[in-house]
Amino acid sequence: MKSSEAYLVLARKYRPSDFGSVLGQPQAAGLLQNAVAQKRVAHAYLFTGPRGVGKTTVARILAKALNCAQGPTPEPCGQCPSCAEIASSSSLDVLEMDAASHTGVDNIREVIIDTVRLLPSRDRHKIFIIDEAHMLSQAAFNALLKTLEEPPSHVVFILATTEASKIPATIGSRCQRLRFKPISPEALARCLSDVAKKEGLKAEPAALSVIARAAEGSLRDALGLLDQARSFCEDAVSADGVREMMGYLGHETLASLASALLKRDARALAEQLRRAYEDGAEPAQVLRELRSLVEDLYLQKIGAKYGDTIPISVPAGVEISMVSPYFLAFILRKLNAALSELRFGDSPRLVLDLALFGALEGGLDVEGWVARLEALEKGSGGRGQESEESKAEEAAAQSSTLQPPPPDPGPPTPGDEASLLARLVAAVAPDKASLSHALAGATMITRGGDCRIVFSRSFDFEQAKRNQGILAERISSLAGRPVSLTLEQGRGPMESKTGEAPRHTPAPSSSAPSPDPSPPAPDVNDPAMKEALRVFGGSLKVTKKSS
Ligand SMILES: Nc1ncnc2c1ncn2[C@@H]1O[C@H](COP(=O)(O)OP(=O)(O)OP(=O)(O)O)[C@@H](O)[C@H]1O
Ligand SMILES: [Mg+2]
Ligand SMILES: [Zn+2]
Repeated sequence: MKSSEAYLVLARKYRPSDFGSVLGQPQAAGLLQNAVAQKRVAHAYLFTGPRGVGKTTVARILAKALNCAQGPTPEPCGQCPSCAEIASSSSLDVLEMDAASHTGVDNIREVIIDTVRLLPSRDRHKIFIIDEAHMLSQAAFNALLKTLEEPPSHVVFILATTEASKIPATIGSRCQRLRFKPISPEALARCLSDVAKKEGLKAEPAALSVIARAAEGSLRDALGLLDQARSFCEDAVSADGVREMMGYLGHETLASLASALLKRDARALAEQLRRAYEDGAEPAQVLRELRSLVEDLYLQKIGAKYGDTIPISVPAGVEISMVSPYFLAFILRKLNAALSELRFGDSPRLVLDLALFGALEGGLDVEGWVARLEALEKGSGGRGQESEESKAEEAAAQSSTLQPPPPDPGPPTPGDEASLLARLVAAVAPDKASLSHALAGATMITRGGDCRIVFSRSFDFEQAKRNQGILAERISSLAGRPVSLTLEQGRGPMESKTGEAPRHTPAPSSSAPSPDPSPPAPDVNDPAMKEALRVFGGSLKVTKKSS
């Protein structure tokens, strides 16, 4: 440290001294200001909320507001002896008790019960601030109960706790309860930026964002981390420096991992994991960081932003528009499950590997399929205007097959059905995810204004039945005409009694029964296979289905 004067940590240096400077707690601060202004201050308050969000700070401001020589006033002067002593915790009339280190009934007697009847020594009120109140013993709570019920009129109690559920109901019901909230990452980042400016500290905005997130809503933690970062980075706080200080993955490592995952590139993923391990990354850390990044992408993708979210950095090489929300949600679930599994397993690396490589397998990219189907619909079926690209693809497909292209089957084309079903899946997905999954495994058969959807699993069928009204309405609006919808349960599309040619919606794991225990290798020259590949992309794989 350059200066020889005692260094005051940022959290103490920037502790707010009036209600107006308290960040992110407008309800609590506003209510107390009004109470003071209208002289309706309760005799006991219970402040609840996570750590480091201003409970003790606000308790002291309230004490000042009540005891300020100019008061009582919602805007204490901060200068008078009462205000000054409260700020330095040396006021005789404002007693702060840390219940964590004074849990017993004797402490309560000594500090509170024996003194509560005495008049304040100088100021208007005697104020007891009991921090970490949930730590008091049962006997201590009991001893407090009576005083709390009918305190002398000059007394105000402020109990603060991070664990509201541990406060006995008998105590809670005698207090007016104020909830303190975690402070948003944006507000934390702004506050950090202000403090850095006041301190003449150079800090990259990205570095402050990393700190703001790591602080998980606590301003004390955020300021503490900024303190640490200042020493760690030697006065120019960089994002990389902060990440290193926190033991995080390097930004590039994280970006490459995410990129490999989102592109479903198993080889690149294996390579990036190897590097991360070489750099000494902990599996739990990798999982947490990936989860937080994928969560950002997911929220952005589905348009669910909370407030003005800190801008996220999409990993290099990842085209966010190409990733479906289904896939992102699938990855999130995998990562989440892996994190809880870590607590019980004894091989964190195995858990991480299984989660990441397992994530490559799933997540229905329904949107992607719909887009492809729509492109196909526009470009094929003898309806003119084929795109150059699809013509070229068609030509390539035909050049390597001896058979002519299959004739146009005429209306209704199975492609229409598949497309309609896929669009229906996408249409219900945003508000009925499980219904959309049920539909994704079903078969649609249309004829004229009639539409049948056949489900192979009774569970899916039941779910669809419960939502028949919604389905009928959506399908009519998708088809652009009234459609009469019938839902059926069948044993599988291939066993459909009718002679029609039903199509399964595209799904990575088709539930079509395969009676042959060892199916033949897929024939990539089969025109049907070619068409499927052209429409859905990906590669062919034989899956044995255990009966
Ligand atoms: N809402 C806030 N506005 C401004 N600064 C805050 C706020 N909350 C916390 N701080 C900063 O964090 C420090 C600690 O806050 P405070 O002691 O009030 O937290 P707390 O809620 O009582 O936490 P704990 O439950 O851990 O006791 C303060 O000195 C201040 O610098
Ligand atoms: Mg506190
Ligand atoms: Zn004052």
